[in-house]
Amino acid sequence: MKALVITSLTGPEALAIQDMPEPKPKPGQCIVRVFAGGLNFADFMTSKGGYPGTPPAPLVAGREFAGVEEGGGRGRRVMGYTQWGAFAEKAATYENMLWPVPDHWTFEQAAAFPVNYFTAYLGYWQAGMTPGNPPPSVVHREEVAKRTPRVLIHAVAGGVGTAAVQIGRLLGVEMYGTSSSDEKLARVKELGLHHPINYKRHEYEEVVKNLTRGEGVDAVFEMLGGEHTAKSLRCLRDFGRVIQYGTATGRAPQIDLRAMYAKSASVQGLWLTYLSQKKEIMEPAWKQLSEWISQGKLTPQIGHVLPLERAVEAYKLLEEGKNYGKIVVKIAA
Ligand SMILES: NC(=O)c1ccc[n+]([C@@H]2O[C@H](COP(=O)([O-])OP(=O)(O)OC[C@H]3O[C@@H](n4cnc5c(N)ncnc54)[C@H](OP(=O)(O)O)[C@@H]3O)[C@@H](O)[C@H]2O)c1
Repeated sequence: MKALVITSLTGPEALAIQDMPEPKPKPGQCIVRVFAGGLNFADFMTSKGGYPGTPPAPLVAGREFAGVEEGGGRGRRVMGYTQWGAFAEKAATYENMLWPVPDHWTFEQAAAFPVNYFTAYLGYWQAGMTPGNPPPSVVHREEVAKRTPRVLIHAVAGGVGTAAVQIGRLLGVEMYGTSSSDEKLARVKELGLHHPINYKRHEYEEVVKNLTRGEGVDAVFEMLGGEHTAKSLRCLRDFGRVIQYGTATGRAPQIDLRAMYAKSASVQGLWLTYLSQKKEIMEPAWKQLSEWISQGKLTPQIGHVLPLERAVEAYKLLEEGKNYGKIVVKIAA
């Protein structure tokens, strides 16, 4: 089968389309004929060997896909999540990592869903802002429920960022978001972002302080690392939490303990790879997300669709921050 192969862990230039053996399903796994793959920042990190647990090269790239299930579920349109092996004509994953593609969605839209929307939803869940299923801290949830919750979303125009804006709007959250580009921010404002912040021209810590009259936000969705973790902590209000789910700058997160003491604030990690193994967390999340999808309230934002042959270009767009929403690679017509 045709597959996008990471030939060495040295970055996107080492990606090549090669003929690879079809995946052999392990017990409990399904095989899917793949039509489209969703590109994630984690794929770029994987190509450089910078993603935890990456096996040695060569390996098939990609962690998110949409296509048609083979075998028992023959013909079912599905969108799925795996750690590697998605950008190929066939991919294998476990049954609980497959979800039905909504009837009104294309494979491209479906390939842009699982990672972004589950990550964003679970961010709100960890921040105590979702209804129904209890979040990790009941005390925190009670604090947040007393007011209109506020969130600061970094890389708000990206894949997870645009999903977080759509979900935040449905949850009635007041949203602040950062990006390097006015053009991207204008598009996210149309999705419902209340306070766009261009961090090239404005210091987001100051903007948040001024707009919230010194109070701060209840949660920051933080995926940059380095000094941004400390700055994000200083953007919090009392009992607030930084949801740390990435380090796109490549720098280890710095923690400002004083800001934590001052407001009983905290930093909490979020890793979909880990949470996705927990049925009791994923099932309520999917129940809520699929309800919103069927009501037409969630639409994956896709900035680029590129054929597999242009995968290197797709990875570069992500590396250079030139993407809006999701980049999708088309694997079959
Ligand atoms: N923990 C998890 O389970 C989980 C799940 C999904 C994603 N993530 C993480 O979430 C982050 C976003 O992932 P994504 O796939 O949705 O990507 P993305 O947000 O679509 O793309 C990355 C965006 O980050 C912004 N950015 C700011 N500083 C950057 C830098 N130094 N290098 C590169 N980009 C920078 C750029 O937007 P602007 O130019 O507009 O600022 C860029 O477009 C990544 O760090 C990823 O690893 C984690």
